[in-house]
Amino acid sequence: MLRTTAIVCVVGACLAGGVAFAQAEPDNAIKYRQTIYQTLGANLTAVVMNLKGEVDFPDAVAVHAQTVAAAAPLVLPAMEQNTAGEGSADTEALAKIWDNWDDFASKAEDMEAAAMQLAEIAQGGDMQAIGAQVQEVAGTCKSCHDEYRD
Ligand code: HEC
Repeated sequence: MLRTTAIVCVVGACLAGGVAFAQAEPDNAIKYRQTIYQTLGANLTAVVMNLKGEVDFPDAVAVHAQTVAAAAPLVLPAMEQNTAGEGSADTEALAKIWDNWDDFASKAEDMEAAAMQLAEIAQGGDMQAIGAQVQEVAGTCKSCHDEYRD
């Protein structure tokens, strides 16, 4: 009996994508992923404020861009736990994320790629080029939010 259970678990893990991960309390899983999104949002905003001249920290722009790029790959692992209908934390994540995981993942990967490119361009300090790439990144954020965020 024990053995059967073990095999089912192994097969389940394989079907789920091969990598086992620890299940957190749903509220903690929700809060954690929100901190990652907040990191993305805060640092992209910081880049934009500098581009608009609302503040003047040109040397910080590359750091903010790198922070977006560093946090970007944290999104997918943090989203893996399906919290639909679970926990009591406020969440804007739609249940269809986990029904359309491959599409959701590809949107996250698009965002990662754009963020990596932003980090690279930001090293050069060309504000116009940085601005253009910020638009690209923001487009990838929006395309996921339109579909999967309430
Ligand atoms: C692959 C999908 C996806 C991508 C790409 C994405 N987001 Fe989100 N974002 C979400 C989802 C889903 C939520 C809702 C999370 C929740 O409430 O549990 C969210 C929530 C947020 C929040 C609110 C967090 C909070 O405090 O509740 C911010 C801010 C945010 N995203 C910013 C960004 C920025 C900036 C980018 C682009 C750099 C981005 N997101 C890219 C799916 C995405």
